[in-house]
Amino acid sequence: MKKIAIFTTILFLLTSTACKRKPANKMAWWHEARFGMFIHWGIYSVPAGVYHGKEVPGIGEWIMSNAKIPVAEYKKYASQFNPVDFDADKWVKLAKDAGMKYIVITSKHHDGFAMFKSVDPFNVVDATPYKKDIIKAIAAACKKYGMHFGLYYSQAQDWTHPGGAACNGHWDPAQDGSFDDYLTNVAIPQVKEILSKYHPEILWWDTPCEMDSARAARFLPLIANYPNLIINNRLGGGVEGDFETPEQTIPATGIPGKNWESCMTMNDTWGYKVNDHNWKSTKTLVRNLIDIASKGGNYLLNVGPTSRGVIPEASVERLHAIGAWMKTNGEAIYGVSASPFKTLDWGRCTRKPAGDKVLLYLHIFNFPDNDTLTIPGLTGKIFKAYPLSDKSRNLNIISNGNNPEIDLSGVDKDSLATVIAVEISKGMKVYNAPDIDAGYDIFIDTARFRITTDIDNAVIHYTTDGSTPTVKSPVAKGLNKVSIPGSFTLKAFCFINGNAVSGLAEHHFTKETPIPSVTVKNVEPGLRYTYYEGQWKNLPDFKKLKVVGEGVCEQPGITLKKQNTDYGFVFTGYLDVPETGVYRLQLTSDDGSLLRISGKALFNDGQHAMTTKTLDVALGKGLHPVELEFFQADGGDGLTLNWKYSDNIVSPIPDENWVH
Ligand code: GLC
Repeated sequence: MKKIAIFTTILFLLTSTACKRKPANKMAWWHEARFGMFIHWGIYSVPAGVYHGKEVPGIGEWIMSNAKIPVAEYKKYASQFNPVDFDADKWVKLAKDAGMKYIVITSKHHDGFAMFKSVDPFNVVDATPYKKDIIKAIAAACKKYGMHFGLYYSQAQDWTHPGGAACNGHWDPAQDGSFDDYLTNVAIPQVKEILSKYHPEILWWDTPCEMDSARAARFLPLIANYPNLIINNRLGGGVEGDFETPEQTIPATGIPGKNWESCMTMNDTWGYKVNDHNWKSTKTLVRNLIDIASKGGNYLLNVGPTSRGVIPEASVERLHAIGAWMKTNGEAIYGVSASPFKTLDWGRCTRKPAGDKVLLYLHIFNFPDNDTLTIPGLTGKIFKAYPLSDKSRNLNIISNGNNPEIDLSGVDKDSLATVIAVEISKGMKVYNAPDIDAGYDIFIDTARFRITTDIDNAVIHYTTDGSTPTVKSPVAKGLNKVSIPGSFTLKAFCFINGNAVSGLAEHHFTKETPIPSVTVKNVEPGLRYTYYEGQWKNLPDFKKLKVVGEGVCEQPGITLKKQNTDYGFVFTGYLDVPETGVYRLQLTSDDGSLLRISGKALFNDGQHAMTTKTLDVALGKGLHPVELEFFQADGGDGLTLNWKYSDNIVSPIPDENWVH
């Protein structure tokens, strides 16, 4: 008991020192920055995704774990790491010219190799022919060019030091040991080293498997010495950190009330892979940056240099193109806050205070055919509107109630995004379109929907015949039910004192006939499954593969897997549908899956984190043939199929509804 009390007191003291170290404005530069470069670089760039002549599926820096390379063999890559073409100044200038304001580079990734001179000998100075300290060089170049500088450090996973964690399990006895000893002997001393030697402004933790609050607390006094240090939320043990880190995704509505940074790759890997040519277009990258800024977040965009120290040409080209766009439009990204509009069908908006006015930046993705841009639900005095590509222009503004229009005639179209700045009075207000909660996108006889708004004293009028709602149109109240002979578009506006004040909300409903059920004699409970093993990036053609296991299970899922990576399942049988109606099927998987039900398909294929796909389908009461395929490559795994129908909420499909 006493021990627990002492421990809790220590923990409290440690956490409270950590809290004390947060000065209110330490995030200021980070918010202003909005755009940074992630660099994943280490000796995994030597195999570059290929082991013993074979392509290893998965992300490049995970090759050691994915191919289960023995520790002694992996360490030999260090002797081939000789980045003679590395030029820190060139990289920092590249980031700067792209409009990036900070760099975060891997000082040690999960393979345990340090890119800095460390007391631990497995480091770039002591274990490679290159012999020079990479982190020192980057830190110096950042300082020289006024670039903010951050370090990634894998505090828990370490696959070459005994006792280091491996989220997918160890594969070599050389990895055995105590995790606490690893923290004492490797992670904590190295964190001390990087903080004291290179003075990063950000410390970017990762994959906290095996971390708990006591272990995380051992790091807190180290970082407490650096009150301006910004840390992410991946230390583990319940430490919140200063910002959230959505990975390879942009949260639909941002993360309100939190600082956040989406980190993303340009192709499909963080660390260099010689055969990964799946590059995103510059348009996607620029629009990701805009989308993130419009939701109040930062964008950390990755490059994975080669073992010679070269950033792949495809990345360089894209960074140059982003830089050209940022040169003209950067002011619509730096220091902006989230959009006041819930959605804009032509693009995105960012905003900034400007003295006694507000600047709205309208980022146009879909340039209107008639050159007229409608800003839905905006009130306030507009002083001026001009394209950032030509600030001397003064665009014509047509007042159209609360939906002012900007005349874009003669404005240069930018295929990445055309940005129009609008100077408006400080008291501006946005009346967002009402929210339509349709429940389902299809209906059989009667469509049901709710329409709501957060605008005070507003009345919502809607139409179902395609016309624009007026005060004479029906008023939306609670649950609305309409029986209509065919598919239709629901349109709704909010009115105050008889005037339409908001943007227009629209939702399309498709009328469908229920798919009849099939008659099957003598069904048994559960689904048939077949189980497979192999390495895939997408769903394979299971019919051509050797079955490794088979039987009957209660539910589709992964509980019967025989290993954590490189396996697949096919489930077959029938879904017993309790009543004729519209069903929403929700398929969630990590990695890919595909559901077929009565001739309809729901695709969720590819190597990805937990991803949900939804299908609305009208089904007749009774049995419907089902086939569900799933594969797992590496990293986390999972598979669930949920449903909802009628007024129910989304829930797992009960065992008794599966038969074969
Ligand atoms: C993941 C991976 C890692 C990568 C990181 C970037 O958690 O384990 O390899 O460094 O994401 O966010």
